[in-house]
Amino acid sequence: MYLKIGCLNTVVVSSPEIAKDVLLKYDQVFSSRSVPGALMAKEHNKLSIAWLPAKNQWRKLRRICKEQMFSIPRLDASWDLRLEKLLKLGDYVNQCCINGRAVNIGEAAFITSLNLISATLFSVEFVEFNSDSSQELKDVVRGVMECAGSPNIADYFPLLKYFDPQGISRRTKFYFEKLFAIFDGIIDQRLQSRGTSMKNDLLQALLDLNQNPEPELSRDDIKHLLLDLFVAGVDTTTSTVEWAMAELLRNPNKILKARNEFRDVIGMNDLIQESYISRLPYLQAVVKETFRLHPAIPFLVPHKADDDAEINGYMVPKNAQILVNVWASGRDSNTWSSPESFMPERFLDRKTDFKGQDFELIPFGAGRRLCPGLPLAYRMVHLMLATLICNFEWLLEEGLKPEEVDMSEKFGLALQKAIPLKAVPIKL
Ligand code: HEM
Repeated sequence: MYLKIGCLNTVVVSSPEIAKDVLLKYDQVFSSRSVPGALMAKEHNKLSIAWLPAKNQWRKLRRICKEQMFSIPRLDASWDLRLEKLLKLGDYVNQCCINGRAVNIGEAAFITSLNLISATLFSVEFVEFNSDSSQELKDVVRGVMECAGSPNIADYFPLLKYFDPQGISRRTKFYFEKLFAIFDGIIDQRLQSRGTSMKNDLLQALLDLNQNPEPELSRDDIKHLLLDLFVAGVDTTTSTVEWAMAELLRNPNKILKARNEFRDVIGMNDLIQESYISRLPYLQAVVKETFRLHPAIPFLVPHKADDDAEINGYMVPKNAQILVNVWASGRDSNTWSSPESFMPERFLDRKTDFKGQDFELIPFGAGRRLCPGLPLAYRMVHLMLATLICNFEWLLEEGLKPEEVDMSEKFGLALQKAIPLKAVPIKL
């Protein structure tokens, strides 16, 4: 589909075959980014792993992330930090059981994702359950995602950029400054405590790299990288967990199946472990089915054509923005039977995975721009769900019937539930 919106040529790709052409076959041409004006605030586009063109600086940032944060040994080494946050989620749900109180699943998933990521990035716990302190940070993280995702008339009519008619650039700058102030505080503290205590997190690794005679990253580079990892990781993980729970509560027999699998394979009393995930095929199928129906970033992050290129007989002009509509691919009846139904079972006898090889299911993208956080997201999503499912039964609030759970969507860069999911847990 070709759309001309103001001055911006946009090509929307909605089939797995063409997505493969764009993301793999002609990735040299299509791996740059079409940057929303809002993300030029604080010159983010010039330093950001998510928005830099696929050239040297971007390659360096991707390498550092892979080696220092998302490699299997690194993730295994930081597991203790995450286990603690999962136990807190379990404790919080337990408290709600005792008080007969409903859990706002999105809120609980948000606090846990935020703390899981901030633990992995810089060993800091930002927010507590039962505290209003999460609201401000939540507003900032959601705010950045909304600013990046909401249609900005200044992107289509560049003359308007200066006037910023919807105030999106101003808001983005405000959110960035808030996050940078937090990161500056954390970095200063770490530099002061150097030598007295060593942490096992990304910040430590980045600062260690800078001990070399030729530092790899400036302080600004580090702050913009932390911002990207933080913002890209929290909202996507949260919305995936909330959608998965919404689907499971709408389908009580599926939640039962997932719980029984956990009990049969792992047992009830063991502490949860990341290594369990590979032994839980039904839980894995639940996650795949959630990604199919509710990809957290439904158009991927906008790609850009660096040159004129022909795809499937059509000319894509240089500088066109390319949106890959993974939401539509996930619901295409040519690929999926009963595409609107939540049926994890479809993945039990099908090898399809979401790691960028099978183009009918690419919630993390594919090719060079494949989400670098996938290995961490994989662990977080499965384990948060296991924590919520295996020890608790859930009753919908206000006598709502399963089929009455509202599934409408609210669109930013990430796709959220429009109406928050709330349910009362019962300890099993
Ligand atoms: C369920 C969770 C997640 C989903 C569905 C998701 C999805 C995506 C998608 C679709 C992209 C864009 C791919 C493209 O444009 O082709 C992306 C990029 C990115 N993601 Fe994720 N992501 C998730 C979690 C995370 C986590 C946990 C982190 C880090 C802590 C992260 C960091 C990033 C970064 C830095 C980029 C930009 C990469 C680049 O442009 O080179 N993501 N993600």
